[in-house]
Amino acid sequence: MSRALITAEGIASYLKTDKAYISIFESVDSTNTLLKEMALNGETEGRVIIALSQTEGRGRYDRKFQSDKGGIYMSILLRPKDLNIDSTLLTAAAAVAVSDAIEAVSGKSTQIKWVNDILINNKKVCGILCEGGFMGCDSFIVVGIGINAQKSENGFNDEIKDIAGTVFDDNCPAPCERLCAAVIDNLFYQYQSLEKCEFLNTYRKKNVILGKKVYILKQGKIINEGTALEIDNRCHLKVRLENGEITTLSSGEVSVKL
Ligand code: BTN
Repeated sequence: MSRALITAEGIASYLKTDKAYISIFESVDSTNTLLKEMALNGETEGRVIIALSQTEGRGRYDRKFQSDKGGIYMSILLRPKDLNIDSTLLTAAAAVAVSDAIEAVSGKSTQIKWVNDILINNKKVCGILCEGGFMGCDSFIVVGIGINAQKSENGFNDEIKDIAGTVFDDNCPAPCERLCAAVIDNLFYQYQSLEKCEFLNTYRKKNVILGKKVYILKQGKIINEGTALEIDNRCHLKVRLENGEITTLSSGEVSVKL
């Protein structure tokens, strides 16, 4: 299998925004960890770190995120003026940005699983982890995006092999630089128009969860179950529990049989 070439110059040649400053690394521990350190040292908004592999890739709830060669591991630094920016809303906007980019570049249709997973044919091809921090009275957000672009040499590990998939097939060259550029352009577009919530319609339409039976999880254990009713304007999920009560989840984990 041939690995796609990913260079900062290559990505820049497709990029429309002038707000992004891209650095590429062969391997880092975690692009989110590195960019958070840089943010604390004064790095400006728009810095994008891309790694071709990570040794300590992190997912939500401090889970390990398998980050072998073949994937795209990207973190983008934002310094929103509005300190009350809602991280669930930003995660959802990022999910729409990435899912639109994958569709435009791969020609495949994608679905979103609330809050932060992007699926192709019911297999997870991307996860998003937004992490915030403060530096004095300035705040920042690092948007971490892990895309399974191509198959890794060793395949997915046992924990995820039944639920994970890749964006590109093995037998054709993967346009990874175009995908990186589309993700960055879409992300900046969604970030700059976050207040208008333009992404909400698409987020709802692409969500696989609505109307489905869902299990609410805490630390991997089912604590309740119900039916996913709607995603509200803050991207919180309303679930009707078995006893008829309606609960609203702002983040957290749900599992759904697809
Ligand atoms: C999840 O599915 O739980 C979120 C996964 C987010 C992974 C990305 S890869 C780039 C960035 N660096 C990390 O360590 N994590 C995020």
